Amino acid sequence: MMRSMLENRTEIDARSFRRVLLAWYRANARDMPWRRTKDPYAIWLSEIMLQQTRVDQGTPYYERFIAAFPDVHALARASEDRVLKLWEGLGYYSRARNLHRAAKLVSSENAGTFPQSAGQLQTLPGIGRYTAGAIASIAFGERVPVLDGNVIRVLSRVFNIEACTDEPKVRDQLWEIAATLVPVRDPGDFNQALMELGAR
Ligand code: ADE
Repeated sequence: MMRSMLENRTEIDARSFRRVLLAWYRANARDMPWRRTKDPYAIWLSEIMLQQTRVDQGTPYYERFIAAFPDVHALARASEDRVLKLWEGLGYYSRARNLHRAAKLVSSENAGTFPQSAGQLQTLPGIGRYTAGAIASIAFGERVPVLDGNVIRVLSRVFNIEACTDEPKVRDQLWEIAATLVPVRDPGDFNQALMELGAR
C-alpha cells in the first residue's frame, strides 16, 4: 500500500515536496547553536543529546558541554566522572558513556578526524543509523536519510500511512521513503526541516 503510494508519486512530487519543505524551513528554522557550524564533533554531540531530550531542554547542556570540551580531543582526555557530571539531568547515561568511548577512538585512532560517511560513522559506539545519517548529511553533505519519531510523524501524515510504525517492515519502508526524498543538494537542511516540522 505504502510502496504503491510512493511509486505513484512522480519525481516532480518529490521535487515540490522538497521545495516547499525547504522554503518553510528557511523561513521558520529556530536558531540553534549547532546549526551555526559544520563541525562534525559539535553536530554529533547535539544529535546524541537530542535523542531523548527536547531542543529547549538540551540546549543549555549542549552549551555547557561544548564549553568544557570544545573538541574531540578535550572530550577524550576528560575523566568519565566529569563527563557524567556534565550529563547529569539528561538521563540515559549510556549515551554519555558511548560518547566518551567514541571520542577516545576518534582522538587516538583517527587523529581527531571523524569518519566521513554514514556507513563508517556507524562503526562508532552509540552511533546508529539515525545519528550517522544526521551527522553525515549535516556536516558532510552526504545524501543519506534520517528517521526519528519526528520524521516518522511527518512522513506518516504526508503519505497517509496508517500501519503501525513500530513494525520493522513499516520502519524499513519509511527509511526507503526518507531515502527517496532526501535531495542531493542540502541534504542536511532537508533532514533538519523534516525533524523541525515534526517537532512543531
Ligand atoms: N532533533 C534532533 N536533531 C535535531 C536537529 N538537528 N534540529 C532540530 N531538531 C533536532
